[in-house]
Amino acid sequence: PIDGPLAGKKAVVTAGPTREALDPVRYISNHSSGKQGYAIATALSRLGADVTLVSGPTSLPQPAGVNFVQVETAVQMLDAVKSELPSDIFISVAAVADWRPAEPSDVKIKAKTTKDGLGSITLVENPDILKTISHMKGKRPSLVVGFAAETNDVEDHAQGKLERKGCDWIVANDVSGDVMGGSENEIAIIKRDGIERLPRMDKSAVAQNLALRIAENFSTIKAK
Ligand code: C5P
Repeated sequence: PIDGPLAGKKAVVTAGPTREALDPVRYISNHSSGKQGYAIATALSRLGADVTLVSGPTSLPQPAGVNFVQVETAVQMLDAVKSELPSDIFISVAAVADWRPAEPSDVKIKAKTTKDGLGSITLVENPDILKTISHMKGKRPSLVVGFAAETNDVEDHAQGKLERKGCDWIVANDVSGDVMGGSENEIAIIKRDGIERLPRMDKSAVAQNLALRIAENFSTIKAK
């Protein structure tokens, strides 16, 4: 409850990877470090928002001044986000695993139980958290922002994603280089009525730029 353009606004941010168990010692995950999402949570909080960061497993310290909810799986992440609603702002930065093992084993799978080693693993689709929150009736946050990590045709794919997910903005970033895990990011903010490209900069500068645009969005709504 500090002062700032986002004072009185609540924001929920997801960050990091999710981890989907195969058995008690193995999992499916990805290279997301959580840096960009943590930086966004911090930047929103500095502008006065009441921020909850819902994070998958990362090696980052908990950012000061934000509420922190630790989760592991996509299903847990969705539950955690839902239980934070109502919220004015939802920013989905997490690299959610699209699939999870259908039936994780309670015991360590023996590598040699079949002649094919682990054999085949049946996967089921995880819930799409961004899409679910975007389509909520009644409790939908008034600003829902998704991320589109692409390696090619970044902006084309992002436009389609805006429609498919039902969110208000997509932040497109090109992860073909060393963005995942790296300290810099180059983004374009795609809205229904236009696109703004930002130069490559530090992830914390990206976060500040995005947070300022979010604050602007709410001040123009207020002015109407
Ligand atoms: O479809 P794709 O994974 O490229 O979409 C990326 C966006 O959707 C990100 O904002 C990510 O946080 C979100 N997402 C999600 N739940 C999923 C998959 C993606 O919230 N299961």
